[in-house]
Amino acid sequence: MSRVTPAQLRQMKERGEKIAMLTAYDYPTARMIDEAGVPTILVGDTLGMVVLGYDSTIPVRLDDIIRHTAAVRRGARRALIIADLPFMTYHISVEEGLRNAARLVQEGGCHAVKLEGGRAVVELVRRLVEAGIPVVGHLGFTPQSILQFGTARVQGRARQAARDLLADAIALDQAGALLIVLELVPTPLAGLISRRVSAPTIGIGAGPECDGQVQVISDVLGLYPDFVPRHARQYAHVADTIRSVAGAYLQDVQQGTFPAAENSSQMDLGILAGLEDGE
Ligand code: KIV
Repeated sequence: MSRVTPAQLRQMKERGEKIAMLTAYDYPTARMIDEAGVPTILVGDTLGMVVLGYDSTIPVRLDDIIRHTAAVRRGARRALIIADLPFMTYHISVEEGLRNAARLVQEGGCHAVKLEGGRAVVELVRRLVEAGIPVVGHLGFTPQSILQFGTARVQGRARQAARDLLADAIALDQAGALLIVLELVPTPLAGLISRRVSAPTIGIGAGPECDGQVQVISDVLGLYPDFVPRHARQYAHVADTIRSVAGAYLQDVQQGTFPAAENSSQMDLGILAGLEDGE
């Protein structure tokens, strides 16, 4: 089974084949997503919320992403794995961004890194691409800027904001970005950007005209208990399943019906009798 390559993703855009991406943060989930044939997996810094219980992506550390990326890499044999560079790991200097991206690749084992921002980060994108590290851009609502945005809302509705978004996407494309994630962007603008750039665009809350779609695994599973974003489709209600399984287990333990004989092991009762007699 061969690994999905950057060239294959570009060919998918050229052929008009939609690219699916899901986030994953652990070995078993990555393995199942991979077995289902999803070609790209993102170890996103949504890890901070949906796994670690923070209220934003801001507290996520590089070491967190490295550890979870390594687990995902052990689980996914075919998908191309992308790992997020967390908050402030690429803003202090281009050199620090390069060093931190190298750690994600060498210690985490990802095949591409993702970073947020447009023209402000193109120099870093260019240097990473020159160093042989594929880069995924992220425009529109960029969660690492939540302190500035205040709340998650659609970006690029006004004329200047739309112009800026298009210019950022073109700059990332020209710097050699492999993919460009568009988050919370109006459908027609996401469509225009997708037609103007050669890199495949991957939408989340950006409508059907993007070249692909990404969703947070906990949202599509119905696993995250705090809220469901409007752009997510829940394919299951795993949180309900976990609650009811935990409740049934609690009842079985309290009533003494678990463990049963098939969950337990036996021994020679003569040995036990000897122990009881102090042998
Ligand atoms: O961190 C993440 O999971 C992401 C997706 C929401 C695109 O950046």
